[in-house]
Amino acid sequence: MSSSQPDERIRRVFAPNLGGMSNSPILYQTKENPEWWRSSVIYQIYPRSFADGNGDGMGDLKGIEKRLPALAELGIDAIWCSPFFKSPQKDAGYDVSDYKDIDPLFGTLADFDDLVKEADRLGIKIIVDLVPNHSSDQHEFFKAALAAGPGSPEREMYMFRDGKGENGELPPNNWESVFGGIAWTRITEADGKPGQWYLHIFDSSQPDLNWDNPKVRDMFDGVLRFWLDRGAAGFRIDVAHGMIKRAGLPDVAVADSHMGGAKSEAQMTIRELEEKNPFWGQPEVHEINRRFRKVLNEYEGRAMCGEAWVMPLERMATWVRPDEYHQTFNFGYLETPWNKEKLHKVVTESLKVFGDVGAPSTWVLSNHDVIRHVTRMGYDQIPKQGDGIGPNSPQPDEALGQRRGRAASAFMLGLPGGAYIYQGEELGLPEHTTLGEAYREDPTFFRTKGERVGRDGCRVPIPWEAGVNESNGFSSTGASWLPQPDSYKKYARSNQEGVAGSTLELYKRLLKVRRELSMGAGNFRWAPEYQDGNTLAYINNGVLVLSNFGPDAVVVPAGEMLATTQHDLLIEGELEIDQTVWIKL
Ligand code: NOJ
Repeated sequence: MSSSQPDERIRRVFAPNLGGMSNSPILYQTKENPEWWRSSVIYQIYPRSFADGNGDGMGDLKGIEKRLPALAELGIDAIWCSPFFKSPQKDAGYDVSDYKDIDPLFGTLADFDDLVKEADRLGIKIIVDLVPNHSSDQHEFFKAALAAGPGSPEREMYMFRDGKGENGELPPNNWESVFGGIAWTRITEADGKPGQWYLHIFDSSQPDLNWDNPKVRDMFDGVLRFWLDRGAAGFRIDVAHGMIKRAGLPDVAVADSHMGGAKSEAQMTIRELEEKNPFWGQPEVHEINRRFRKVLNEYEGRAMCGEAWVMPLERMATWVRPDEYHQTFNFGYLETPWNKEKLHKVVTESLKVFGDVGAPSTWVLSNHDVIRHVTRMGYDQIPKQGDGIGPNSPQPDEALGQRRGRAASAFMLGLPGGAYIYQGEELGLPEHTTLGEAYREDPTFFRTKGERVGRDGCRVPIPWEAGVNESNGFSSTGASWLPQPDSYKKYARSNQEGVAGSTLELYKRLLKVRRELSMGAGNFRWAPEYQDGNTLAYINNGVLVLSNFGPDAVVVPAGEMLATTQHDLLIEGELEIDQTVWIKL
């Protein structure tokens, strides 16, 4: 139906008599000459699954290099590569046995140098994933710690403790691993007897390093410099909020007995939160943040992004004060559903709290740990993060998820600040929601005996050329370390390239406009004059971004149509439910 045929379902969402003026305050204003990381679009590559250069079914650095032109064409500024270091791969590379070398699965240091060089030629920066909270149990320091015995300086590199109970048979405290089960493993000492316990907040193959030990700090200064010297543009820091454990390693308070009642985390003060979680977000972590920052400051134009799951956002913002991280992933935003009021709240709050410390907000919807957002948004009741989706779980509504997911991407990419895109997101790739048990690799699956299927579903190799082989061109042989679901053929890049209305072309368009109109470094205010009960609108650098949350269609305001999730939408046409449009006013 065209706008010339009045329809009861359609409402005008703007008041022309306001002439586009609004009293809503500017919430974000660009500084002059902002540094690159304040506005960049950073593309996350999960090396195992991006592109396979040697046909063995495992993605690698040569594969990435070969596909760089596709990323340049997409219009990104930088790549964050998940870990490619030497590793037994017990947690897909987040278990590092040598921080200064590449795992043969992924290539060599020379391949890394080639990648940095080629990316640089295409104007793309490479960000390395640093994993400082824990190493692999195969790291030489951990092996030395096991051999050296209790009380030795070698043991002091990690978190060894004697057990409780008569014979030390009970773990030192009640902490639980993020992946399920207890966070302690008892070792057998050199004399063959059961001995001390070591802490692992994640898998038992990932012993926590002891960041109270200056030797650990010195070691990581060296690791940072090693990659910065090789041309890394910076780091994504894994578990940035977990490196310091509360002195004395007190038990986690059992729910309800804490502070006299059933206070939810949302009601707690920052101090109470620090106390409640003795291994997350301890105040002394900030010293480490500052130390890392000092090393980065020795180099020109480098940046680091912290993976700090610390809520509320006001607390997360303390991680990005001027002498700490440059960015932290805005997980508050990631966890916000496709809901008008909630999005308004989280964006307003983010711009305020990060702005107060002079930092940009860093928007993100998907990564290798969470259910892909087009799949999340295909549920009314979103499955719990980290649990994953398996063949026996309720399945998502694919069409709904695609619609909302694309609208959410277009809403996010118009916002000022940094933005992260997770590989495959630009194809609208859904989660693999029916991956069989035999393929599961996530330690969560094993540590919970399959109760939580884990994160493999968002880590499935990318389909490049539809139908060329079983992996849709991920590898030349069709091999693929995880099988793709049937639907991946439909979503393959070759099926979207140059196709008007495809998700790939949508992302290219959004990134192009975002760059040309400097929206990442924008000037933001809400635009209530363009809103009604079911829409949310903001203006960033003269671009109106309008999303419709439904149920009715709304008339698109006059202006120049810059981008839209709704193929064939016309100015003064109808913007349907779960669609977003960008208009130059
Ligand atoms: C966060 C990473 O993103 C995740 O993939 C990993 O399993 C844990 N940290 C442990 O390193």
